[in-house]
Amino acid sequence: MPRPIYIENKIKNFNKKINVSGDKSLSIRWILFSSIADGISTAKNLLMSEDVIAALEAIKKLGIRVKLNGDKCKIYGKGINGYKYKKNLIINAKNSGTLGRLILGLLVNSPHQIKLVGDKSLSKRDFKRISDPLSKFGIDFKLNKDKYLPLKIIGKGSLKPIKYIEKKGSAQCKSSVIFAAMRTKGTTYIKAKKSRNHTELLCRHLKLPIKIKTNKKYDYIKINEVKKVSRLNYEIPSDISSSAFFIVLTALTKNSSLLIRDVNINPSRIGIVSILRRMGVNILFKNKKNYKGEKKADIFVSSPKKIKSIKCPTKFNSGAIDEFLLIFLVAAKADGVSYFKDLSELNQKESPRLKWGSKILNKMGIKNIVTKSSIKIYGNPNLIINKKIVIKNFLKDHRVFMTSVVAALSYGGLWKIYDSDSIKTSFPKFLKIINKLKK
Ligand code: S3P
Repeated sequence: MPRPIYIENKIKNFNKKINVSGDKSLSIRWILFSSIADGISTAKNLLMSEDVIAALEAIKKLGIRVKLNGDKCKIYGKGINGYKYKKNLIINAKNSGTLGRLILGLLVNSPHQIKLVGDKSLSKRDFKRISDPLSKFGIDFKLNKDKYLPLKIIGKGSLKPIKYIEKKGSAQCKSSVIFAAMRTKGTTYIKAKKSRNHTELLCRHLKLPIKIKTNKKYDYIKINEVKKVSRLNYEIPSDISSSAFFIVLTALTKNSSLLIRDVNINPSRIGIVSILRRMGVNILFKNKKNYKGEKKADIFVSSPKKIKSIKCPTKFNSGAIDEFLLIFLVAAKADGVSYFKDLSELNQKESPRLKWGSKILNKMGIKNIVTKSSIKIYGNPNLIINKKIVIKNFLKDHRVFMTSVVAALSYGGLWKIYDSDSIKTSFPKFLKIINKLKK
């Protein structure tokens, strides 16, 4: 049964330093790359969440040994062709779109049919966006209602390279095709609308045969068959998407400041920083470093006197795709009307998040007009909430839950918020860190 939490008081102002957990995208990618590497790869600060554990379980099913010790992990890779494909294999991606979609790219050479299943939320999400491009390599799929999980993938020994245009700005689609291309003789060409580029950066760091050219809107990727992946020792930087909850809580709490240590600030992930800076929030990157192709820094944020409304440039959309619920909360306090468009992808997430954004704002008493791909938010700089609010989020959408907690702590009111167990998928330490800020 989903469990709620109750929040009945605003948070008092704070000035603190925190660490958040390891990045989810990088944790899952480290697992997948290490699973096809030659030899033992080690990780530190691996995110210990259900999505990441599901990824470890998945590679174990493929015959790869894993040793976990707290947030340290060892993966005993057996080389690019080291997976043991048993008959009647079932892989469970649970709640994780990233795991479910990326791993399919690595399964394209399975001689036997593999079944991919997921939880209720993942089973409502589009997998045709992956089976369509992967089918072009010459493999077969059977999907539930032609689009959904459970699905069956039937691989091939010999695959044909493809030309693929990725138009949604989905890093999951792009990455899945990159993995399949790594198993394919010849050159695969990808033209991809901008999205997070961790997979490409890891390919480059591992010196795999990848070439990338970029312009403002698209990345052009050429990738050839990979013969060998070197082992990957990696210290996972902290997650900007998890940091975002605390960045926004600070921005919305008068006379507060916060330092978040050692966060991944890959330029394709920091849309929220660009957007909030334009809205008048003070955010600084301190102690910047390069790390194995990625960038990291300490993030310092302090609450502004006033929040400005924004007509959000769409160039920031892909870099903030997981943070819009939070950005809408900031727009709720802005002086003026804010407008966000080209966001239909938000309704493709763990739950329909554009609809959820509007629903949460309505409950808070903030006027907004939502369409299938846009939202207009009429900010109220003097917003104070006194009423009861219930958030019935039953699809395990961790970001709906955590955003609602931030709303309750910054605006007040009597909140009953489901589903507190949802944080286990991406950020189990979330409520512990909130409590640290309350002390
Ligand atoms: C992710 C890509 C994004 C994002 C998700 C993680 C990734 O999804 O929303 O949380 O790690 O590749 P899409 O590829 O569907 O945009």
